[in-house]
Amino acid sequence: MAGPWPKVSSSSALASKSVNFADIVRSRRMSRSFSNQAVDATVIASCIDLASRAPSAGKSQGWHVLLLENEDAQRYWDIALPMERRNSFAFPRLLQAPVIALSVCDPTAYLERYSEPDKQATGLGLGVEQWPAPYWTIDASFATMTFLLALEDAQLGALFFAHSNEAALRSEFKIPDHIEILGTIAIGHVDDEGSRVGRSANRLRRSVESIIHRKNW
Ligand SMILES: Cc1cc2nc3c(=O)[nH]c(=O)nc-3n(C[C@H](O)[C@H](O)[C@H](O)COP(=O)(O)O)c2cc1C
Repeated sequence: MAGPWPKVSSSSALASKSVNFADIVRSRRMSRSFSNQAVDATVIASCIDLASRAPSAGKSQGWHVLLLENEDAQRYWDIALPMERRNSFAFPRLLQAPVIALSVCDPTAYLERYSEPDKQATGLGLGVEQWPAPYWTIDASFATMTFLLALEDAQLGALFFAHSNEAALRSEFKIPDHIEILGTIAIGHVDDEGSRVGRSANRLRRSVESIIHRKNW
């Protein structure tokens, strides 16, 4: 097909892309210790822009990020890890991350999208119980993973972790009841390599053969 774009050999384009992609996937690790060096807000925004290209059912795009920077990140920790629990906390420099991002999703975006004329016959617009799987959570997980890879590409460290004290977080940050919280991502400049090691780090990665089930389970 003719076009105004330069001709690129598809095999060489794919080869050079896949080298970079594989490097980023292999080098990404969860980071649990950060310096207090500031993070450029435009870099975070461009990583979220990349992540927003992740697929979503019916292109419903129900992923949202609550971004808490600097003193707002400390408001998060005041709730998630109150002062009295900090002495015994295994990763004190996690709290230095200048950015906290809550990865959340909006199931109502899916009900609205699947009530539109081209999707109405599916019946999925009628309620969340109609869905075979929570696609809003799946899509937000795809976007979150893409976000983590984009952060790695931008040479920033990140930790996705389970949030605690959800009711208090919702109240403090005015998160509506219908919004589902997937988890928290702490983001910043990593202060040392040892910081990347969590309690599960020594577990072996499963082999490809143990993952693939050929023909039947
Ligand atoms: C859904 C999910 C929840 C996680 N929760 C925590 C957590 O609460 N605390 C933590 O230190 N790491 C948490 N992790 C990070 C995992 O421990 C980590 O991804 C795993 O050990 C593999 O290490 P790697 O990502 O550095 O390769 C979580 C990861 C995922 C995907």
